[in-house]
Amino acid sequence: MELRIENQPFAGIETGALIVPAFEKDAPRDSGLLKEINGATGGWIDEIYASGEFAGKSAEIAVLHRPQGFRARRLALIGCGKPDRFSTAELRRAAGAAVRALKAKSVREMALALEAPWAGDDWAAAAVEGALAGEFDPDRYKTGEEEKKRVEVFALAGAASEAALERGRILGEAQNFARELANEPGNRLTPGVLAGRARALAAEAGLECEVLDQDRMRQLGMGALLGVAQGSAEPPYLILVRYRPPSVAEGAPHLALIGKGVTFDTGGISIKPSERMEEMKYDMSGGAAVLAAIGALARLKPAIPVTAFVPAVENMPGGKAQRPGDIVRTLAGKTVEVLNTDAEGRLILIDTITYAKQLGATHLVDVATLTGAIAVALGGVNVGVFSNHEEFQNRLLAAAREAGEKMWPMPVDEEYKEQLKSAFADLPNIGTRYGGAITAALFLKEFAEETPWIHLDIAGTAWLSESKPFLAKGPSGVAVRTLIRLAMEFKAN
Ligand code: BES
Ligand code: MN
Ligand code: ZN
Repeated sequence: MELRIENQPFAGIETGALIVPAFEKDAPRDSGLLKEINGATGGWIDEIYASGEFAGKSAEIAVLHRPQGFRARRLALIGCGKPDRFSTAELRRAAGAAVRALKAKSVREMALALEAPWAGDDWAAAAVEGALAGEFDPDRYKTGEEEKKRVEVFALAGAASEAALERGRILGEAQNFARELANEPGNRLTPGVLAGRARALAAEAGLECEVLDQDRMRQLGMGALLGVAQGSAEPPYLILVRYRPPSVAEGAPHLALIGKGVTFDTGGISIKPSERMEEMKYDMSGGAAVLAAIGALARLKPAIPVTAFVPAVENMPGGKAQRPGDIVRTLAGKTVEVLNTDAEGRLILIDTITYAKQLGATHLVDVATLTGAIAVALGGVNVGVFSNHEEFQNRLLAAAREAGEKMWPMPVDEEYKEQLKSAFADLPNIGTRYGGAITAALFLKEFAEETPWIHLDIAGTAWLSESKPFLAKGPSGVAVRTLIRLAMEFKAN
């Protein structure tokens, strides 16, 4: 999708559809573009509001062909809800909804009209992010002769800078890169293939990529990670991608972004039911998110070093698979009793967390489709946020708000740790049915120890089982935009 800026007055823009934000019924329409349209079309705006055909609710759309006084072939009003609640997050969704609705009508070129007070860099960047995310469809394996519908041009009209457009492009494309990876089925995206994709991303972005193989991980002593991998014919890899600023100040923070990379999760010997097991191809969404984020950071150049870590494994019930009751020795030296082989994400993450600390990370953020329990707690709306450091957590929550990604803090009090007692090893890998997302987080916290750490459980939000007006069904790319913003806000000292 080509992105561009239109500097013409709105009426002079030649495009397939001029997209115009419009608010709920009682919002004033006696100035600006809406007034201009109403006048030129002999009262189209008044009529559709009065008839109830269009009420300005979020994602509603109304299209007029061949509008009088405009060079655009169509005018497309996009509902933006209540004007006093309008925000960059709402605009992002509105842009996505408009793109998806018009794309479905085979419109290939469109321009979004941004008027004060919604014109300016943050608004423009958000609109571009929303448009790119809205354009994405997980349809790459559909072969039908019918030409696929694609949006070719998305323009921003009204005040917008090239820099804002570029920033929006980087974030929107990063989100879609993560979605493309998460959508790959298990046969096409094995741990080895994921490592190859990371190498290609690093080469293109000018980043350093290092991939640890099974032998190296055995030498290091990553028993928890290797235990998960041993049931699969596909070898595991620990993928590292490094961003380094031109100069690193003494005592500068070093951010580690750690993403769960289970390319397919059958559950292992504690096998999952077959219903909806196909969705477990997205169990590497956290890994995809951190790779996408560091690819974007290569272009945005934060002030501090950032390293992405992706433990990539397939969780299978093979003849060599680990058994319930197996005890593994972690890189940190603690032993874990594997009571349930389906609680594999935390096993691969703890060795990676320890390794990140050994390499000098001062701040840890892990992103994982970790528990079904987080979907029970927060549904498909909010990402669960867990942390051992309130100030760091607040910075992440602020970044999430600006990025327009809903995230909600969850408790990690020690009182839940009663559930994490094993008779035979230092820790079991599961607690009870109650507070499952919290005990999973507490298990990780044991390995983060005193290092400032945040855990994002994206199991409920990384995959949409139904499409939204602004986003297709399937992988959502959640957390990518927040991670990028968080990294950008770190100071060198
Ligand atoms: N990958 C799953 C979590 C998951 C569930 C992600 C549903 C997305 C949708 C994870 O590895 C898992 O299986 N967790 C278990 C933990 C349990 C055995 C303690 C779960 O949530 O059931
Ligand atoms: Mn599992
Ligand atoms: Zn899993």
